[in-house]
Amino acid sequence: MTTYETLLIEKTDGCAVVTLNRPAKRNAMNPGLHRDMTAALEELRNDEAAKAVVITGAGDVFCAGMDLKEFFVELKDKPAEYEAVWKMAVEWRGRTLRYYPKPVIAMVNGYCFGGAFSIVEGCDLAFAAEDAVFGLSEINFKLFPGGCVSKSLANLLRPRDALYYGMTGDKFDGVEAARIGFINKAFPKDKLVEETMNIARKIAAKDVHALRATKDGYRFSLEMSWEAAMNYSMAKELELVQRQSDAWRKEGIQDFLEGKYKPGLETHPG
Ligand code: COA
Repeated sequence: MTTYETLLIEKTDGCAVVTLNRPAKRNAMNPGLHRDMTAALEELRNDEAAKAVVITGAGDVFCAGMDLKEFFVELKDKPAEYEAVWKMAVEWRGRTLRYYPKPVIAMVNGYCFGGAFSIVEGCDLAFAAEDAVFGLSEINFKLFPGGCVSKSLANLLRPRDALYYGMTGDKFDGVEAARIGFINKAFPKDKLVEETMNIARKIAAKDVHALRATKDGYRFSLEMSWEAAMNYSMAKELELVQRQSDAWRKEGIQDFLEGKYKPGLETHPG
């Protein structure tokens, strides 16, 4: 695995943990971090040792959002470069994570501001420390949730919550983030890694092709008509048969019919 200046990547038990690693700058996303993240996600895409990807932050911080200095200020008079970084920044958070062929999980260990919301939203699942601090801080410095952040809010939050937090800039904790559906669940800080990794490992142990179909079926059918979605679903079913040599019938269903396990209560042993 390549060594990245702004990321740490550790692989364990079928999971890759990607840590945003600029603690001195509260893991703010500078252009280098966007470049590194884009490259790392491509590298992990076909890495069989990474069946699930977990994204977290170094130290006590998840991510302080876009790097206000290196991005907004230093690139202000370089429009071509600004636009190139802008596109890269929205691409990996807004699309790569969303349509990634494997599950991606955000593990929010502390501050999570502005642009970091789009990392959390782009992930399939998200967990946070109960005392993590979330904030759409843009309004506090006279901006709005730009880039892909407004779209992220519209994708996930109820209108009242998105506009309340977007307009007040009020901070909220992990418990509130779970209550409003921005994350799945909050855990006590000292349990966050253990609990999140238990879930990541559980998912990583499932059939990789079935996981991919689960994600594709949800993500892509969202914006389809019923007719297109059903056609897509049938095509996905046939794709799955091809990708895993019909393991869901030959093993998943057959072993149930032979009384070897109960899929309602446990995962297939093989
Ligand atoms: N962009 C660039 N630099 C940032 C940053 C950001 N988003 N967030 C923090 N930093 C830098 C600070 O400028 C400081 O750099 P310096 O040591 O060279 O002066 C360093 O990180 C530490 O920040 P500091 O404010 O001293 O740390 P703190 O722990 O007291 O506070 C925050 C942390 C995150 C609450 C505070 O830094 C902050 O409000 N950051 C802006 C968050 C934001 O609005 N993000 C939305 C961007 S879209």
